[in-house]
Amino acid sequence: MTTATWTSSGHLLGLEDLGRDQLFSLIDEAEAFLPIVRGTVPGDSMLEGRIIANLFLENSTRTRVSFSIAAQRLGGRVVDLLGSTSSASKGESLVDTAANIAAMGVDGIVVRCSDSGGAALIAEHVEVPVINAGDGRHEHPTQGLLDLMTLLQHFDGDLSGKTIAIVGDIASSRVARSNLWGLTAAGANVILVGPESLVPGELTSIVPREPGRGVVSISHDLDAVLDSVDALMMLRIQFERHDGDGIPEDYRERYGLDIARADRLAGGVPILHPGPINRGLELAHEVADGSRSLILQQVTNGVAVRMAVLAGLLASNR
Ligand code: NCD
Repeated sequence: MTTATWTSSGHLLGLEDLGRDQLFSLIDEAEAFLPIVRGTVPGDSMLEGRIIANLFLENSTRTRVSFSIAAQRLGGRVVDLLGSTSSASKGESLVDTAANIAAMGVDGIVVRCSDSGGAALIAEHVEVPVINAGDGRHEHPTQGLLDLMTLLQHFDGDLSGKTIAIVGDIASSRVARSNLWGLTAAGANVILVGPESLVPGELTSIVPREPGRGVVSISHDLDAVLDSVDALMMLRIQFERHDGDGIPEDYRERYGLDIARADRLAGGVPILHPGPINRGLELAHEVADGSRSLILQQVTNGVAVRMAVLAGLLASNR
């Protein structure tokens, strides 16, 4: 049923299987939706009559609202099923919950869950398109896409040979994993920065070495990489995924991006963060709100990316 050129499965489960051309074509489509997001042209009706279920079994602010706005800008309607109010909190399995929603006749399911691989599991059991909005520590493909789109805008459409540092709680981060795939496919090299306890060593080898693809390396010393990066992506320490372990007491001193560190960056080096921010820990207020910050541009691009994804998977008359 899908008319999208970037997926053969009819779902969006991760960026791992998307090549450069597929990623760029999705981002081109997202760019075309930006005037609607900004309100300078009216919305579209390509999702008229479609009902999209937001199945969010983990907390979310911007991702869920962003999907809802994206669907509504295209004329679709959204039903929200949230963790605390769904029967998942009574122990109903993820697949049961999703299968029941699908049986009610929704046209697509956007899922956020704590199980790595949960979105793919649902996709095996339902007939409608499934969009992964973050599954455990696995992937968060629309976040990876909006980050890629934001960096492409900043670097005039070309990331090849650029060095992007992703800093922080890499171990917990599905955002980091989706970015590893997306950024390296676009030709950027990625340095994962953080304490040993938060940066799994095996991440340097999951991305294949192939022509045109960037490479992944690890550094435990943020100060040592500041001079060589073209962009910095700061990540939240995900306290909810740690039992008080793994987070060094001197984390802020070693890895926090404060004004002194930001001032050492070359002019034009942008700062990204997927949100929510632990202000004053991984990122100082002044840096989050400063002239290098692309954080709100990321949020705006997120709606456009989700419009492109929903349109590709759910609009049959394009
Ligand atoms: C991220 C997530 O949920 O994976 N946030 C988001 O979607 N914007 C990162 C995080 O929670 O820190």
